[in-house]
This record gives sequence, C-alpha cells and structure tokens, in this order.
Amino acid sequence: MFSQLQPVATDPILGLMAAYQQDTNPNKIDLGVGVYKDEQGHTAVLKCVKKAEAMRLAKEDSKTYIGMAGDLGFNQHIEKLAFGPEHPALLAGRLTTAHTPGGTGALRVAAEFIKRANPDATIWVTTPTWANHISLFQAAGLKVKEYSYYDYDTKELLEAEMFAELAEVQPGDVVLLHACCHNPSGLDLTFAQWQRFTALAKERGFTPLVDMAYQGFGVGLDDDAAGLRHLAAEVDEMILCSSCSKNFGLYRERIGACTLMTATRAITETSRSVLLSVVRSIYSMPPAHGAIVVSHILDSQELTALWHQELAEMRNRINDYRQLIVDKFAAEGIEQDFSFITRQHGMFSFLGISKEQIERLKSEFSIYMVGSSRVSIAGLNHSNIDYFAQSVAKVLK
Ligand code: LMR
Repeated sequence: MFSQLQPVATDPILGLMAAYQQDTNPNKIDLGVGVYKDEQGHTAVLKCVKKAEAMRLAKEDSKTYIGMAGDLGFNQHIEKLAFGPEHPALLAGRLTTAHTPGGTGALRVAAEFIKRANPDATIWVTTPTWANHISLFQAAGLKVKEYSYYDYDTKELLEAEMFAELAEVQPGDVVLLHACCHNPSGLDLTFAQWQRFTALAKERGFTPLVDMAYQGFGVGLDDDAAGLRHLAAEVDEMILCSSCSKNFGLYRERIGACTLMTATRAITETSRSVLLSVVRSIYSMPPAHGAIVVSHILDSQELTALWHQELAEMRNRINDYRQLIVDKFAAEGIEQDFSFITRQHGMFSFLGISKEQIERLKSEFSIYMVGSSRVSIAGLNHSNIDYFAQSVAKVLK
C-alpha cells in the first residue's frame, strides 16, 4: 500500500527552517519562519513563562485527563483577552471556547465545525494568505476561494476589489480575516475598513472567521483586537481562532483556542456540543501544559505585568527594525522606496523583490526568506543588519 504513495513537496515555510539549519555559512540569516528572536538571535523562554512553569511544577498534583474543552480557566482568560472583559457577547454568555493544540489546531477544529454546520460552505481567504490556510481548509473538505487583499504595486489594500468580491459571498459561507499583523503582508485593515467589513457581513449574512495569531505584536493587546471587538459587537455569529505561540513565546507547547460566538445562549450550548464532538474525533483532548502556564500568568497581576513588559519589548524591537531596514537600505544607496515597511505591522513584510533576487540572497549570501519575499523581521539584529542591507543592495543592482 505505502509503495503507491507519491512524495509531497516540503511546506514552503518549514522547509526553509531545515535548509537554514544545514547551512554552514557563519553569516547566515534566517528571515523565514515567524519566530521571534532577540538581539542575540535567540528565541528565549519569556521570564513570565519560566515563573509560571515553576508554579505549575509546584502546584500540579494530578495528570488526569483535562477534558475535551481543555483548561476552563485558560478558556475564560483567552475570551477576555480577545474580546475585552466587558464585551456584550461575553457578558451575554454567547461565547464558548475550546483550547486547542496551537493556532493551527484551532483552525482545523474550526474547519471541521464549519463542515458540520454547513457541508457546502466555501471559505474565503485573502490573497495572499498564510501558506497553510488553504491546504488546511481543503484537508477538512471545505471549498476555498480567495478574495483580493494586498496590492503588490502600491503595497496598500485592494479595497475596492476586496469589498466588491465580498459583496458576492453567499449566506452560509465563511470569510477569514486576519485580526492583526496580516501574515504574510503585514498590511492590516484600518478601523474604518473593519467597520465596512462588519456592515457587509451583516448585509450578506456570511460568517466571519477571525484568525488572531499575533495579538500584541502590532500596536498593542487592545488595539490589535479593536477590529475584531467591533465586528463581534455587531454580527450574530463568528469564529475566532487564536494562538499563544508568538505572544507568549510558547511555540512548541502548541497552545491556541477556538472560540465560537453564537446568536443566543441556547445556540451556544448546541454549538459547544458539536465543537467538543469535533475535538473528540480528532485528538480527544488538548495537551495541558501551555494552557496552564498561560492561566498562571493571567491569574497573577505580577506575572501579567511582566508579560505585558516582555511583549512590548518584542513588539518594539520589531518596530525599531522596520525603521532600521529602511534607513540601512537608503545608506547602502538603494533608491527603491521601502517606506511601506514602517507602515506595516507584526513579524512580516514582503520585500517585493524578484524570485531570482530571493534565490541569489539564499545561494550567494545565505539569507533565507520565503519565496514570496516575505521576511520575518525579528530575524534581524545589530550583528547582521548591515550584512543584510549590503547583500540586498548587491542583488538589487
Ligand atoms: C509562519 O507563518 O512562519 C508561522 O506561522 C509558522 C508556521 O507554522 O508557518
């Protein structure tokens, strides 16, 4: 049976990680996968996480099953973090959450849930979107269509095209939006564009699915959720998939959440039963560690304050490098306008250079970025930014 299989191409993002690890050039730079790195090029465990892990070790007295929805304390925290503690949907009991193995797990659970709710649903994603979105939804048996989003020429939103295309979406379909720090472009909707989207969702009757993998990496925890909160206050139902990989630095612990917002408390109960049955049929119950660590942090004022500080450090370092890229490129005599990088948010921006130039950066200079020219800005630091700018200047000549 196995001999019938055909090889599958390596994932474009994770494949880069492996290629980078094998490169022996001491000057190599990893701008591929979306993982935060500090000035030393290291992805350190956050201090608040270390403290919460010590608490967990001291407090934990059982390894019994955690249940299909995962850690209930974590689920409450994550709803408050995303929607805000006073959000009307939360106060009305219209939210229900299952903690999941990572943000990817949340998306897969959401996809299976959508399939149960409407087997004919089409899910609409931005062009471009995160490399894994399309294959993940197709693997769950959903039809996937794309809507215009990023204008590669102007580096702005294709607003007219986007809203014209979304005006054709049918009730019963799902439209995916990135809450903030759009992956891969870094281009976020303005609040006015969120309002316009919200009005359209109400008019057309489609269901929004918001993917929030970077809360706190854009402008701040509340600002990054402002669009989502507005949407949730206006529409009857939506799905939120969130992740603690980046903002808590818990990547390998695989901790995320799938939250459903429904029109009434009664529908919440029914939807929860379907959600839990989806979980049971895929992995039964999520791993506990990451959720309990996050719960310990958010239960404690002191650890929450430390987390806010560490999150701000990560966000500010990335934003500093957004400016530094533009300055260093100019210092190297690059005439092309890269100022759009400073207007974008989160870990990523497209450099907007050609496939040949990307390939030369990899083969001649050991600088790794995704084939779309997406760079993960946190891979830059004071030791490698000059080499990066000089190398880009050479391939742009
Ligand atoms: C990325 O886009 O680089 C991250 O979300 C990591 C991943 O799983 O692709």
